[in-house]
Amino acid sequence: MILMENKSKLKIKSLKLKNFRNYGLLNLNFDDEANIFYGDNAQGKTNILEAVYISGTTKSHRSAKDRELIRFGNEESHIETVIEKKGINYQIDLHLKKNGPKGIAINKMPIRKASELFGIVNFVFFSPEDLNIIKNGPSERRRFIDLELSQLDKIYLSNLTNYNRIVNQRNHLLKQISFDNKKKFTDTLEIWELQLVQYGNRLIERRKQFVEDINRIVSSVHKKLTGNKEEIQIIYEPSNGNMTLEEAIKKNRERDIKIKSTSTGPHRDDICIKSGDLDIRRFGSQGQQRTAALSLKLSEIELVKRTIHDTPILLLDDVLSELDKHRQNYLLDSINDIQTLITCTGVEDFVNHRFSINKVFHVQNGQVAKEN
Ligand SMILES: Nc1ncnc2c1ncn2[C@@H]1O[C@H](COP(=O)(O)OP(=O)(O)OP(=O)(O)O)[C@@H](O)[C@H]1O
Ligand SMILES: [Mg+2]
Repeated sequence: MILMENKSKLKIKSLKLKNFRNYGLLNLNFDDEANIFYGDNAQGKTNILEAVYISGTTKSHRSAKDRELIRFGNEESHIETVIEKKGINYQIDLHLKKNGPKGIAINKMPIRKASELFGIVNFVFFSPEDLNIIKNGPSERRRFIDLELSQLDKIYLSNLTNYNRIVNQRNHLLKQISFDNKKKFTDTLEIWELQLVQYGNRLIERRKQFVEDINRIVSSVHKKLTGNKEEIQIIYEPSNGNMTLEEAIKKNRERDIKIKSTSTGPHRDDICIKSGDLDIRRFGSQGQQRTAALSLKLSEIELVKRTIHDTPILLLDDVLSELDKHRQNYLLDSINDIQTLITCTGVEDFVNHRFSINKVFHVQNGQVAKEN
């Protein structure tokens, strides 16, 4: 039974790169379990994870533009991956162009919309910056939710795209309004606001659901990580407070016209992370904040598992060196059943751990050598 499950779990089988970042040509086959990429700084480890992530989501985890991904001095870049999902292979091809939209194909059939890639593969990207999501500002916490929900829920992704467009349009309009022409623009403003409220409410509802789902998972993870010492609770904090979004938008309209920007809505919301009565964002120690962030990230993996009824592929970028032994072990133990691509500067982190390393790759100046 276990064997069958392993056989059918989601995995990336291979990656081919042409003129991507510091890679000229690269051809890699992955192991179904743990793959370790080690090497000195600036050799191309993160670039591999980035390419893999882009192949499934069409976007860079570090929000890089397509032209930045193309190897210096070239016009185009090509990423080819083979993903196995429920025993079926999907070849995903991405052509990134310096001056033009990217081309995407699934099993050699070009697709028109990036959203057609949706549902083939789920990645969880975990980098040292994720350990700061509690400490940093609300935008990082929104990004955490948005990135995950965009992979899990096609409708959310479409609502988010529409919502962001509407906020941009409203902001653009706010910039055109001055004291003399206010009346002229009010009708148009109201039309944007109506849509803003409509899409905004959908995002808020879905995010609240996400927070509820995470809450069901996170407390037991956090207890294990803290040796039963700490509790954790996540609370969604809408920027409209106790008002409805519609009321808040109306109430803030004058101010928005003054500051020429939309001050209320899901693009300004936050999540509060509490341990008992303590708001960890503001009053937690650095260690508490990082542990809470790790709990959140591990819960994200579990939530994806429950949602897609499969394991996501975990991309672990340089995280281990940021954690103490206890947390390292906990992390490695809890990802034993997942295909993982791990980057690190040295392999010594794994020596004393029962976590098995299946493939080790040495990354050096845009070249990758397999070691076993
Ligand atoms: N478009 C590009 N063309 C060519 N080289 C690039 C491009 N973009 C980034 N690079 C180079 O890729 C190199 C490797 O980057 P990468 O982030 O993968 O390093 P890394 O091995 O993860 O290092 P670290 O251990 O410091 O995280 C960098 O030196 C960078 O200059
Ligand atoms: Mg790196």
